[in-house]
Amino acid sequence: MKKKAKGKIVMVGAGFVGSTIAYTAVVSGIASEIVFVDVNRDKAEGEAMDMSHGLAYVKQVDIRAGEYSDCKDADIVVITAGINRKPGQSRLDLAKINVKIVQDVIVNVTKYTSDAIILVVSNPVDILTYFAQKISGLPRYQVIGTGTTLDTARFKYLIGKNCEVNVRNVHAYIIGEHGDSEVPLWSTANIAGKPLEEFWADSGKDGAVEKSKLIEDVRDAGAEIIKKKGATYYGIGLTTTNILSAMLGNENSVLTVSSVLDGEYGIKDVALSLPSVVNVKGIDRIFNINISEDEQLMLNESATKLKETIRQVEN
Ligand code: 2OP
Repeated sequence: MKKKAKGKIVMVGAGFVGSTIAYTAVVSGIASEIVFVDVNRDKAEGEAMDMSHGLAYVKQVDIRAGEYSDCKDADIVVITAGINRKPGQSRLDLAKINVKIVQDVIVNVTKYTSDAIILVVSNPVDILTYFAQKISGLPRYQVIGTGTTLDTARFKYLIGKNCEVNVRNVHAYIIGEHGDSEVPLWSTANIAGKPLEEFWADSGKDGAVEKSKLIEDVRDAGAEIIKKKGATYYGIGLTTTNILSAMLGNENSVLTVSSVLDGEYGIKDVALSLPSVVNVKGIDRIFNINISEDEQLMLNESATKLKETIRQVEN
């Protein structure tokens, strides 16, 4: 039997988001095989061909269009299938349609594997992660959503700009829902160990004003980009590749991915993001960091809001 190198990713959905994640993964050299599965076979083949034509200049990777049966020896199945929210469409309507699509994907994927990590990217990501885990019956740390990893990346970027410091020296997290009820963890946010509040006080800035502007910009970022260019895909592309790299490279990286909770931070029966150690197993463990009382209250509200949507989708 032909021996395969490790690092096989099956990308379900070859739209803007799926193809950008795949392209970013190709440029980053983290995978040995990327297989596109899409209802539009031509689109899957076209993306695979187009990306393959750059292989003369990057680390080798086998890129092709395939079928769900390709999941049988996949390390990670990434789900980007689903519709985008149309103007005037409610979030609940979107959730109902995309839960159906993800249900169909999960039924097909689990025919061929119970070993692969399932990484959900489609929106609303926390709702879809919850249903993907329940429908698959797989361990909850094996079915993961990109959650607030993108919000955390936007948060760090904007803090870095605000404080004129390299984004990589900013340590700050956003947890909870990937959406309006997300929770910025100001109490632990720091630059090189220095609390942000001190940073602002030193430069004569009002921390409260800076905070409210920053979080507003993070919360509105997705909608703002959609308004300007119709979709978001580069930010989520790089963010998802960072998660894939943590998994394939067994990195034990602390990332704010989404998973179904069972009592962590006092929350259960809902999927949302918490700082989690990510490695080859998927989530290895959820990190218990000290959050303030206000942050805990906001997190509880985020969980309540997501549970309400789950209930409405189920009815
Ligand atoms: C984003 O935040 C729309 O979830 C997408 O970019």
